[in-house]
Amino acid sequence: MRLLDRIWPLDVVIDPMTPDHAHRMSELHRLTFSRPWTDGEFSDLLAQKTVFGFVARELRRGKAQVLGFVLVREAAGEAEILTITVAPEWQGRGLGRKLMDSVLAKAHGERIEAIFLEVDETNQPALSLYRKLGFFQVGGRPDYYRDRLGRASAALVMRRDLG
Ligand SMILES: CC(C)(COP(=O)(O)OP(=O)(O)OC[C@H]1O[C@@H](n2cnc3c(N)ncnc32)[C@H](O)[C@@H]1OP(=O)(O)O)[C@@H](O)C(=O)NCCC(=O)NCCS
Repeated sequence: MRLLDRIWPLDVVIDPMTPDHAHRMSELHRLTFSRPWTDGEFSDLLAQKTVFGFVARELRRGKAQVLGFVLVREAAGEAEILTITVAPEWQGRGLGRKLMDSVLAKAHGERIEAIFLEVDETNQPALSLYRKLGFFQVGGRPDYYRDRLGRASAALVMRRDLG
């Protein structure tokens, strides 16, 4: 890995998501979640006017591979992060942060008052990212998730206010 790439990969851009991204989104989801969503589920979500998202794309070598994405639903002045994921080999290189920054910037622009999300209490990378961005816990759902071995964990409900 190039030294600069550890700080921010130069050939990665953040773009608004389009319905064309549905297949790649389900591929990435399958790599990172024990209960992945299908192409059809992503297509259905993207067809909704209240749903938007961003993709991180690598432009190197003439390709435009999607490396990560975030999907958001907006309603009545609030927004919910539906899902966010980064390809395993690209995690820890700033893409998740950039994707969330894009959501926060759009939310500010649209005068959204608060953003909510749910996160597995055992998901330390995600919890750390959200806390750094100003999200705080406002609730929880015990025994909400099951991992691949059937172990249960709670969902934490988090909120970020936008002033
Ligand atoms: C959570 C996820 C989206 C974060 O994306 P990422 O690109 O890896 O994160 P970044 O490189 O932008 O890191 C941002 C912050 O997240 C935290 N973080 C990232 N990876 C971490 C790790 N392995 N351990 C602890 N904290 C971590 C850190 O606070 C980091 O800030 P820092 O670089 O200043 O230390 C990514 O790990 C992922 O796709 N995980 C699998 C899917 C998932 O769990 N999604 C969230 C469901 S709620």
